[in-house]
Amino acid sequence: MASSGVRGSLVVIEGPDRVGKSTQVARLARRLEEEGRAVKVSREPGGDQVGEALRTVILETQLDPWTELLLFLAGRARHLAEVVEPALRGGELVLLDRYTPSTLVYQGAMLGDVVVGELTSLPVFLLPNVTVILDCVNPLAAFDDADRFERRGLRAWEERRSRYLSFARQFGWIVVSGDGPEQAVTDRLLAVLSSRGMLG
Ligand code: TYD
Repeated sequence: MASSGVRGSLVVIEGPDRVGKSTQVARLARRLEEEGRAVKVSREPGGDQVGEALRTVILETQLDPWTELLLFLAGRARHLAEVVEPALRGGELVLLDRYTPSTLVYQGAMLGDVVVGELTSLPVFLLPNVTVILDCVNPLAAFDDADRFERRGLRAWEERRSRYLSFARQFGWIVVSGDGPEQAVTDRLLAVLSSRGMLG
C-alpha cells in the first residue's frame, strides 16, 4: 500500500534482462495516456539527474557488491523523493521500469536474501500498488555487450528468472507472460491494471 497522503498509483514492471520491460513500459504508458490517465514513466537505476549519474557509475564501474548495493539504494531513495512521490501526490500513475525486485534478485544472490531483504524494506522505500514480473520462456539469444550485468550468459539469466518467479510467489507479485506479439503483452498488462481498479 502506498503511504498516506499519496493519491496516485505506483506500478512496477520487472523481470530479467531482455524480456521487453522498457518496450512494454512505453507501450503501456501510451495506452494509459490515450485513456486519459496522467502517467509518469521512470526507471531504476536512474530517475533524475543524480539518479542518472549514479546509473553511469553503477553500470560502468567495477564495484564491490556492498558499494553497488548501497548505491542502488541511495539512488532509489533519491528517485522516490524527487520523482516518484511528487508524481504520486499529483495523482499520476507512476510506471517504474525496475525497482526493489531487481535488488532482491541481483544483489540478494551475491550478498544474501535476508540482509538485502531487510535493507530493501527500510521505511523510505515505498511499497508499490502492484508489481508485475514480465516472464519469458525464451530470451533473445543476445547477451553480448551492453553492460557487465548482461555478460554472464544464459545460465545466469535462467537463475535470475527462477529467483524472480520464486520471489513472486513469496510476495504476491503478478507474473505476466512476455512471450508473443508486443500488442498481446500490453493487453495482458492492461488487464492486470484494470483488475486492480487502476484504469477507471
Ligand atoms: P538496464 O540497462 O536498465 O537493464 P535492462 O535494460 O535489462 O532493464 O540495466 C540495469 C541493470 O541494473 C540490470 O542488469 C539490473 C541491474 N540492477 C540491479 O542489479 N539492482 C537494482 O536494484 C536495479 C534497480 C538494477
